[in-house]
Amino acid sequence: MSIKLRHQRVSDAEAFFRILNNPNFKYFSSVPKSVEDEVKWIKGCPAKRRKGLEYNFAIIYHGKLAGGCGIKIDQHRKHNVEMGYFIDEDHWGKGIATKVVKMLEDIAFKKLKAVRIEILVHPKNKASLRVAEKNGYKKEGVHKAKVIGRDGGYEPAVVLSKVRLPK
Ligand SMILES: CC(C)(COP(=O)(O)OP(=O)(O)OC[C@H]1O[C@@H](n2cnc3c(N)ncnc32)[C@H](O)[C@@H]1OP(=O)(O)O)[C@@H](O)C(=O)NCCC(=O)NCCS
Repeated sequence: MSIKLRHQRVSDAEAFFRILNNPNFKYFSSVPKSVEDEVKWIKGCPAKRRKGLEYNFAIIYHGKLAGGCGIKIDQHRKHNVEMGYFIDEDHWGKGIATKVVKMLEDIAFKKLKAVRIEILVHPKNKASLRVAEKNGYKKEGVHKAKVIGRDGGYEPAVVLSKVRLPK
């Protein structure tokens, strides 16, 4: 299976807008309101990378854009990072997210020197819980009102983590 991560490009905006506005993305809240919104977001990524805030990537599956993912650094405790990911519904169930989590994890632990990686998942998002668990992330508990959902409400999240202490 060929999966590559590359920086997001303005030319990806239309595809990201379509993928993210899928009503079946019930538990994913970062939904662009327009293609222009998405362009703006993508244009902001290099500055966020330079400042060490976020590292976002396009997921390329056999040469085609199939989703997006990223790593966000906790600015108060920089050893602590959060990973996120989404896959175009046309490609669900092919093991892509499972492999992407592993790839992001390598970047986080090796390049960014993270010690703790968190994945936040809505308790009903069975597919994402499975992806995290298949990669060895352990459930730590359910945090109330942790994230803002698609409809703007405060939603709970299962916090899963993997810790690698420096030797
Ligand atoms: C969650 C998501 C990223 C999974 O991507 P994917 O590439 O299809 O994931 P994978 O193929 O690597 O693995 C999915 C696993 O979940 C399982 N799964 C899928 N739907 C499920 C369900 N309703 N109940 C239980 N398990 C389910 C699959 O069987 C598979 O497990 P298996 O390999 O043991 O069979 C994708 O569904 C998505 O983008 N959803 C919308 C955005 C989102 O929720 N992102 C995550 C936010 S935390």
